Amino acid sequence: MQHFEDNFWHYQNNKLFCENIPIEEIILAEGSPAYIYSKASIIKRCKEFTNAFSEVNHKVFFAVKSNSNLNVIRIIYNMGFGLDVNSGGEFTRAIRAGAHPSRMIMTGVGKTLDEIRMAVENDMLMIKAESKEEVEQINKIAGELGKIAPVALRVNPDIVVQTHPNISTAKSGVKFGMDPAPAMDLYLNRERYPNVEFTGIDVHLGSQILSFDPYFVTLKKLHTFVKRLEEHGLKLKHIDLGGGFGSPYHGGDRFHIQEFGKQAAPLMNDFGCDIFFEPGRFLTANCGAIVSKVLYTKESGSKNIVILDSSMTEILRPILYQSYHDILPVEKDDNRERISYDVVGPVCESSDYLAKGRELQKAKPDDLLALMSAGAYASVMSSNYNVRRKPPEIIVDGDTWHVTRSRETYDYLLYDERVIDDLTAIP
Ligand code: LLP
Repeated sequence: MQHFEDNFWHYQNNKLFCENIPIEEIILAEGSPAYIYSKASIIKRCKEFTNAFSEVNHKVFFAVKSNSNLNVIRIIYNMGFGLDVNSGGEFTRAIRAGAHPSRMIMTGVGKTLDEIRMAVENDMLMIKAESKEEVEQINKIAGELGKIAPVALRVNPDIVVQTHPNISTAKSGVKFGMDPAPAMDLYLNRERYPNVEFTGIDVHLGSQILSFDPYFVTLKKLHTFVKRLEEHGLKLKHIDLGGGFGSPYHGGDRFHIQEFGKQAAPLMNDFGCDIFFEPGRFLTANCGAIVSKVLYTKESGSKNIVILDSSMTEILRPILYQSYHDILPVEKDDNRERISYDVVGPVCESSDYLAKGRELQKAKPDDLLALMSAGAYASVMSSNYNVRRKPPEIIVDGDTWHVTRSRETYDYLLYDERVIDDLTAIP
């Protein structure tokens, strides 16, 4: 469990701690379930990322979609990172976290006109465009605002990436990016878009990528493409390689960023411009856990089932991607027998499980279990299905901890709904 040891989650006298705080202390005060993140872990991962590319002129933009907690955004921003925002909502959260648009880039396969206007009006560092129509819209909006919008075309390199098919984005035929030929056409006919400056080119290959190969293949393809642009007098200011760098969930499988940085530096430096990265998961996945309480245990046929108070509404990943998350007892008891469990939640869906056939210490009602590596794509993908309240988000900082978002209340969930008597009267 390499990721467990190096991410500031550890046991002291059989009790699970995040940094210097016993998890039980937080749950006693705030109830369960709760998302808990380690600040030190986020900082460590940020340093690991930038150090890996110390030989390359680079800028890192945290993919806010992986964890849009205001304080997580702010910690990473304060580490000197920029932000990759994927919607007006993410932009608004980034602003609320204190970030400046000049350190933001705008992503999105389907930006609305309002979102484009938001990016142009606020002078974001760069806006990605994924189609000819989008370039036309950006040009029009920038014209109306009297601005020149910095744009990078997101090009689809058409490569196979070994990851879950739901998070692979680089094969031709997907909704993301543009094929290279129409992208080349846009770059070469740039005079048609006087309010756009093509400052860069962008790719994003997928997520939870563990091998270097797709990045190397892409870098080589980009080289050929960019050379051609230079022959036609267009010198780009940045090459954006996107995110996708995998994190360890199970055993030691991880993207070895240091080694990748070393091997890729010559190719990257060959471009003679800035290299942009957009990591999300790499920075946040292993910092956090969702801690839940055992409600019941039962046997069903040949299965042992443990029912938690968290579910697919708090972490959708296991059912969407069959993802594996370690499950650790908040209090370890080596005397208890070990049992293979299906770990499920209270939601009325047969697919509502967090783990299947997982060997755990025998569970009892009120036991607390931590589902690890829930710092990325967990809270951000949570829902209110079954009218469940979203859990609080807590950040541990050494000897202290902070509730950065409270558990939702039922009043909060109902704040803008009303019963309309005229509508509900039966004629
Ligand atoms: N840049 C772009 C344009 C992206 O679409 C994404 C993620 C990233 C950067 C960050 O990728 P990362 O470094 O986090 O892999 N919900 C899925 C992951 C979806 C990723 C979407 N795009 C999951 O839980 O595995």
